[in-house]
Amino acid sequence: MSKLIAPSILSADFSKLGSEVEMLNSSEADWIHVDVMDGVFVPNISFGFPVIEKIKEYATKPLDVHLMIINPDHYFEKFKSAGADILTIHYEAETHLHRAVSAIKELGMKAGVALNPHTPAALLEDIIHDLDLVLIMSVNPGFGGQKFISNTYNKISRLKKLINDSGSKALIEVDGGVNLTNSAKLYKTGVDILVAGNSVFSSVSPKQTIKEIKSARW
Ligand code: DX5
Ligand code: ZN
Repeated sequence: MSKLIAPSILSADFSKLGSEVEMLNSSEADWIHVDVMDGVFVPNISFGFPVIEKIKEYATKPLDVHLMIINPDHYFEKFKSAGADILTIHYEAETHLHRAVSAIKELGMKAGVALNPHTPAALLEDIIHDLDLVLIMSVNPGFGGQKFISNTYNKISRLKKLINDSGSKALIEVDGGVNLTNSAKLYKTGVDILVAGNSVFSSVSPKQTIKEIKSARW
């Protein structure tokens, strides 16, 4: 399949959120990545339902919602109503992962599981065939603009093997510290979707940066 990019709205200028979303609509972005942080699972708080509803009102592309919250299963219906198309929860935040993934899918959303940098891909062995997406964190979650952790390449390769061996259709997404210097190698290693926040929104031409990251080839 072709390579996708999901710019992270966390790095947008919130004083003009509507026009930032419109910029993404008219760019080559495939999905809009929406980071939800609760100040408990991660040491930062981002935004909640009213903001996601506004993003949805403007967006013409799927909302890829990444939950960095504890007890994510308490809120699945609310994220669905707010406009989530893909809902990703953290492995480390959910004791009953199979039940949670099934509940997300029953609500009509794609289900993803995110792994913190220290969490091995192998822990997904018995659920990989149920997942639509695995999100590999390439920074410690909580903040935009952090440095990419290079062990991520090994992890992508191991996850890719797990997916191929199991016959799963899960896509691989990488999130954190993605920019023009590592995007080509990440796609080449097996990533399907790259999330990019700071590198896109701090660029003089975000649309051009989206295009360049997406077309990067090793
Ligand atoms: C970090 C978030 C990321 C973040 C990525 O906890 O999950 O999605 O927005 O931002 P950059 O691309 O700036 O590292
Ligand atoms: Zn994210």
